[in-house]
Amino acid sequence: MIKFAPDLEKIPESGAGSQCRCSNKTYVTIATMKVLRTVSSLQEAMESCRRAGQTIGLVPTMGALHDGHLSLMKRARADNDVVVASVFVNPTQFNNQTDLLTYPRTEEADCAALETAGVDFAFIPSVEEIYPEPDTRTFDLGPVAQVMEGAMRPGHFNGVAQIVSKLFSMVGPTRAYFGEKDFQQIAVIRRMAQLEDFDFDIVACPIVRESDGLAMSSRNVRLTPEQRAVAPTIHRVLAESLDLARTASVAEVKQWVKERIDATPFMSTEYYEIVNPLTMQPTDCWLTPDGPATGCITVYCGDVRLIDNITYKI
Ligand code: PAF
Repeated sequence: MIKFAPDLEKIPESGAGSQCRCSNKTYVTIATMKVLRTVSSLQEAMESCRRAGQTIGLVPTMGALHDGHLSLMKRARADNDVVVASVFVNPTQFNNQTDLLTYPRTEEADCAALETAGVDFAFIPSVEEIYPEPDTRTFDLGPVAQVMEGAMRPGHFNGVAQIVSKLFSMVGPTRAYFGEKDFQQIAVIRRMAQLEDFDFDIVACPIVRESDGLAMSSRNVRLTPEQRAVAPTIHRVLAESLDLARTASVAEVKQWVKERIDATPFMSTEYYEIVNPLTMQPTDCWLTPDGPATGCITVYCGDVRLIDNITYKI
């Protein structure tokens, strides 16, 4: 059973809830996930875990959880004594009010999924709790934040840096987990962590896909059945472009991908860039000094904005 704890009274001794030994000598976990809504209850809980010498894995989310998120919880669960997931639709990272208002909110289902995933603490604050006054900080995120999503969504990455830096400070994790679907976001968070002297592991976890290849995303639920039927084209075209990349230039592959996506009903490419995997800067080489180039795409499928990426290990 989930316990809602506006102010935490008792921290469990073990990270994953209480465990009891059954007569057949197998261990069974009894879930005791706590839902925390205030920064002070979160900080108190984390302080207690640290005092007990426990490692803490943090998984920041905006809710509307799917198996992609749950793979992050699973990884955090395997790596740490204690797992904290935050569920907060962060207004400062939305540069489009309609996108903010239509962002799916499914708190009850999220809590059930987090508890099943073995999360110890779900931090679900209000906007007022996180931003008692406006956050006026501007982060010097540099070139990684100026291209692709940074160019298309002004202010987005600064908003991501604001909320993630707040969560990092509030939780003080041993490790924090992010999904590679938001490939550029990970580079931006690493840059923010460097600027703010957050000296812990930022763990990048692989994209989780539906069986037809569509990258899992909270926005997928907004696709109509007709749009959902064609949405897997994004990954299919990217995967097919790996073959072409063996014989074609970066410029040729970029054009080929865009033409195929744009020829698909409902779809229009916002950008397709092939970039250095660390600096996020466009490259002409399949193998950059920092590793294989990554293709990052954003596609409008109707009015739903979908992103995906692929690594050109060729
Ligand atoms: O990737 C997301 O869901 C969000 O950008 C994040 C990292 C939770 C910050 O709000």
